Amino acid sequence: MKVTKAVLPVAGLGTRFLPASKAIPKEMVTVVDKPVIQYVVEEAMAAGINEIVLVTHSSKRAIEDHFDVNYELEAELERRGKKELLEILRDTAPPDLKITAVRQGKALGLGHAVCCARPIVGDAPFVVMLPDVLVEQSGAVSDLRLMTERFALAGQAQIMVEPVPYERVSQYGVVDLNGSDLHQGKHALMSQVVEKPARADAPSNLAIVGRYVLPASIFELLANTKPGAGGEIQLTDAIATLMQQTGVEAYHIRGRSYDCGNKLGYLEATLAYGLAHPLLGNDFQVMLARYQR
Ligand code: G1P
Repeated sequence: MKVTKAVLPVAGLGTRFLPASKAIPKEMVTVVDKPVIQYVVEEAMAAGINEIVLVTHSSKRAIEDHFDVNYELEAELERRGKKELLEILRDTAPPDLKITAVRQGKALGLGHAVCCARPIVGDAPFVVMLPDVLVEQSGAVSDLRLMTERFALAGQAQIMVEPVPYERVSQYGVVDLNGSDLHQGKHALMSQVVEKPARADAPSNLAIVGRYVLPASIFELLANTKPGAGGEIQLTDAIATLMQQTGVEAYHIRGRSYDCGNKLGYLEATLAYGLAHPLLGNDFQVMLARYQR
């Protein structure tokens, strides 16, 4: 079944990113020349997904505005003959992009946030994309598209994973593949998944990095999931149940991800995306050389 919908849980208050996130959503913070969330929506569209469901909060209205048409600005740029700027502006709200928003009234965890999208997603399989994680594009076909294609073929949920240092496993959902290795761009059945394990209890160092392809049946499991790690309703716990019912596959990212939800991860993303920028990259590299000690 083709996957055309993505759920983006954006209700989180972004306390790890204060003071930047005091009056603007953390997802609207800029990496080089675009807000983080725009990269995520572009990643979805590149995978053939054009229906975005934002699970949001009253303080996050700027996100919806960013993907809406801004007639006044368009008319003004048109009047001034600024064609390139007009194109950049229109790219933020392509006609085939459909954004819907639903509110998460209470901060009860990621699993709860995903469940809030149920009335809009309905019976269709869907993708969950954590909005402060940027996934490096490697190769002509994106990792997310490979995951949705694999889902269509195998009918099993796909969870993106990436190795992290063992010191950091306690910040993630961590998967077990029955002790076997998983190479980049490959998938394998998971035998266990745990949310935020202590280092000593982690079944591996393969961490869930914020891209999931899920069947609609996950909603019923989420509705019956009790609070877990941190007292929150965890998506990972519902995935653990799904694993027993239908099997779930882990997919090993080919490139890498950047966690823009923490300050150092954000700085690294700015460096990487700045260097890779088609117009600014070369000058940025020269500039950076001046800062090397
Ligand atoms: C969430 C998920 C976790 C995942 C992580 C990736 O945790 O619950 O399984 O590994 O995102 O960023 P959070 O970072 O919201 O605590």
